[in-house]
Amino acid sequence: MPWTVKTGLAKLAYAGRRAAPGASRLLPKWLRRLVLLHIVDVNRPYAAFPQSASRRFLEDQVLPWLRDTCPRILFVGAGSYTCHYEKIFRADAAQFTTIDSNPGCAVWGARQHIVAPVQEIGRHRAEGSFDCVVLNGVFGFGVDDPAAMRSVVEAVHSILRPGGRMVLGWNADLHPDPVELGVLGSEFAPDPSSPWGARRTFAGETHVNDFYVRR
Ligand SMILES: C[S@@+](CC[C@H](N)C(=O)[O-])C[C@H]1O[C@@H](n2cnc3c(N)ncnc32)[C@H](O)[C@@H]1O
Repeated sequence: MPWTVKTGLAKLAYAGRRAAPGASRLLPKWLRRLVLLHIVDVNRPYAAFPQSASRRFLEDQVLPWLRDTCPRILFVGAGSYTCHYEKIFRADAAQFTTIDSNPGCAVWGARQHIVAPVQEIGRHRAEGSFDCVVLNGVFGFGVDDPAAMRSVVEAVHSILRPGGRMVLGWNADLHPDPVELGVLGSEFAPDPSSPWGARRTFAGETHVNDFYVRR
């Protein structure tokens, strides 16, 4: 699409949003995504991001591994650059649930999406409902101090079945090591079945992935 047409359509989309805030929610999710991704171009600031080694690892290795080994997965935090993850679970859409505290992120959520802080997951799903929780890019992005991290870990613990996995992704430039901070408590142990060991780091990146299981 020519750049001038794209800019004109983006301006129109923003004007529509200003004129009737909230009205876009009446449109089907696929149409809102199409406008946001291909006209407003919301992923423009993240152009290089999908190519990073840590993101490729998450998309190409971790999520397919979880698909093949965990019947029920909760993915915390839904963004414009994660909305295609549900395709990995297309064979069984019920396998993949997303949750985000920001109602504006619901458009990026999977077919089963919960609008709530993950600390309140117990209001939406029964204890032990999930075989895996992916908590990637949440610490340091709204859950910033050890007390808040701890309350999230407690919620994750209650929603995982015993032996269920927690895939934790965090950034060493944003806060101290959550494992060293002790926020996992004694309720989690390194995941013995992780093909990558308990921790995976990425040369030249601050991103870290930790693989734990609920005791
Ligand atoms: C940096 S994005 C990460 C998105 C995604 N998890 C990923 O791997 O790229 C952080 C997202 O987490 C959401 N978030 C922050 N705190 C949260 C909480 N307590 N419960 C649920 N979602 C939260 C934010 O609204 C935001 O959409």
